[in-house]
Amino acid sequence: MLHSSTRWKLLPCLYLISSLTLPTTAIWPFPEKRFHGTALVDAGTLGLAGDQRIVAFGDFSGDQFLDVVSLASDQQTLTIYHWNHEDFEYKEGAQFKHSSKVSNIVPGDFTYSGKLDLLVMGQGRNSKEIDMYLYQSIPNKGFDTANPIHVQTSTSSQPIPLDVNGDLRIDLLGLTPDGGSKLQVWKNIWNSSRIDSPLFDVQSSYFNDSHCQIANPHSNAVVDLNGDCLADVFLVCDEGRGQKSFQIWLNKKSQGFVLATQGSLPSGTQSISFADIDRDGTMDMIFTTCKSVSSSGVGSECYINIAYNQQLPLCPYTTDSGMKNGVRVCRPPNDLCTADDSFQFNLLDSPDNNAFVRFPVSSLFRDGHKQSLLVWDTSFDPPIPLSLRLGDANLDGFPDFLAIFASGNDRTPYLAYSKHCASGVAGCDSKGRGRRGWEVAANSGMKALANVKDARGVAFLDMDEDGTLDILVQRTGLQDGSKVLFIQNNFYYDAFFLKAIALNGACDSGWCYSANGSERYHPFGVSYSGATYKYTVFDTLGHRSAAQIGQLPQTSYHALQTPYSFFGLGRTNNYIENLFVGTTLHAPEHYINMEGVIPNSRVVILPPADGGESGGTWKRELFLRPGDWIPWVTVTCVIGMVILAIIVFVLHLNEKREDELERRRISHHINFDAL
Ligand SMILES: *[C@@H]1O[C@H](CO)[C@@H](O)[C@H](O)[C@H]1NC(C)=O
Ligand SMILES: *[C@@H]1O[C@H](CO)[C@@H](O)[C@H](O)[C@H]1NC(C)=O
Ligand SMILES: *[C@@H]1O[C@H](CO)[C@@H](O)[C@H](O)[C@H]1NC(C)=O
Repeated sequence: MLHSSTRWKLLPCLYLISSLTLPTTAIWPFPEKRFHGTALVDAGTLGLAGDQRIVAFGDFSGDQFLDVVSLASDQQTLTIYHWNHEDFEYKEGAQFKHSSKVSNIVPGDFTYSGKLDLLVMGQGRNSKEIDMYLYQSIPNKGFDTANPIHVQTSTSSQPIPLDVNGDLRIDLLGLTPDGGSKLQVWKNIWNSSRIDSPLFDVQSSYFNDSHCQIANPHSNAVVDLNGDCLADVFLVCDEGRGQKSFQIWLNKKSQGFVLATQGSLPSGTQSISFADIDRDGTMDMIFTTCKSVSSSGVGSECYINIAYNQQLPLCPYTTDSGMKNGVRVCRPPNDLCTADDSFQFNLLDSPDNNAFVRFPVSSLFRDGHKQSLLVWDTSFDPPIPLSLRLGDANLDGFPDFLAIFASGNDRTPYLAYSKHCASGVAGCDSKGRGRRGWEVAANSGMKALANVKDARGVAFLDMDEDGTLDILVQRTGLQDGSKVLFIQNNFYYDAFFLKAIALNGACDSGWCYSANGSERYHPFGVSYSGATYKYTVFDTLGHRSAAQIGQLPQTSYHALQTPYSFFGLGRTNNYIENLFVGTTLHAPEHYINMEGVIPNSRVVILPPADGGESGGTWKRELFLRPGDWIPWVTVTCVIGMVILAIIVFVLHLNEKREDELERRRISHHINFDAL
């Protein structure tokens, strides 16, 4: 039985508890979630209804949200759509009509102004030539559509952007109509203080004695293949009669590019993509081969091929110098950007070559469904080659891929997850051994993808920059009229991610100003091809692993790669031990090492302009996306700290009083002794 006074004290307490528990919905302070369920969720067209084909990604407004460039079906009308975070959809921005049929778009900061310009590749005088124009950006006003800058013509093999001379300005590499098979560089000579400055000067001295009849289409890439965090050049050459070969040119900074390896590609090779498939810290190749391709772009008897980059392994301990009898045997974890010029790719399909794996696409499907792969998008003129689109959808640190499969008249995109090898998994041998296996996810969570029957292209992107890798599906419109479908990746993964973007150092990495100084903006959108990331991280068992990621390695034939690099880190209970960021600078230190980077963040790296010669330094900025819960976590934290402070203070007072008593007792004692 309670005393009346106690009962009175309990009442407000009970009232408080009931008010907290009963009307929860009324006082729940968080907005309702936009997407429900652990699945891939259909997010619709997000403002891109109508006649659209997304041809490129880029952050045109510099607000760190991904915008898109869309091309109408006339292949001439280009529209920029800007992402609006508040309304969660794309809003129409600048629109203009190009003078000829557009074949590809490369966004890039060609004029080094801190804003993305648009390089438009269009049909030339005949089908063997490409006419290129640059639409210069005007801060806050879209593009200078009245005066596009004409660029020297190339052959129909699309030139690729790269930084050939270490000044972080975008040059181009390709062939000219009258240059034969000699590689030509469109060297960037833009001078913003000159009126009518030319943009490029075509030279052939960077690739000496080169002979490569670049294939059309090709899978040329700017990616680090010898592990020194400096982007090299990968070329696909046409050898005639349907045979193709590859060449790898190593970047030797001021000594130019040196041909390191060449070899032939298997017959029927389609597009090649690059990623660190087995997470050993080196860039591997993954590509499809098909015996034949129908006129509608469907390949038959297609195989997926993976060629692993054979390179120095990672040393097990940080204290290991990596040298044995004067020979380097491994790469120390705190010196990941050590070059290994004896790297190699072995594309020989033989049982004793474990650096090459090849398996039929049908083995990706557990249910034995006979599916064929869509390798060309024939709804575009000229048709677009469809590569395997790589991205770490489940954040486990191993890239997964998206591909479109054809079955009858259906064209359905599928997501294949990279898995540990086990018996019966595609990519592993009959005993279940191998580096990585693959499996197409076919559970009910994949419905949003499986419902699509008219896909013509797929890509990974991070919608609204929320830290999950989402999916864009481009469609012919035959199914329900819509040409674009966004799919939110709403699975819960117990793993971390990191998003990184290395900028080109324009505006000396502070604020940029327009020509007359009236506009001010940040150069946040100006990603460029060739930056490289390498990191080491511990898994929950304490094993260290290294991984490598390239920034924008491919931009041709609607490669639709995002300007930022998104990578999964797997499960870890620590910071990223070392994150190496390499650029194409010709400075002695073309990379930096960042220690203790916080996972689930976005890192922006701003290299010094002019390679640091003018006194600039590297800058790095780290952004965390504030969650909805942050204010409440802060309030709880502050309340907790106040309560702890009160307890500490009370205990402190008690202690002080006891000390005082003790002191008095002792002084009493001494007094007695003294007597
Ligand atoms: C850019 O043009 C201005 C004016 O013509 C000239 O004075 C300057 O030297 C040029 N800069 C470079 C790097 O060529
Ligand atoms: C390439 O050739 C040019 C002219 O023939 C020469 O000046 C240059 O030094 C050569 N570069 C290399 C890396 O051999
Ligand atoms: C600066 O140039 C822009 C157009 O580029 C113009 O609209 C603006 O009025 C100019 N401002 C000044 C102060 O001249």
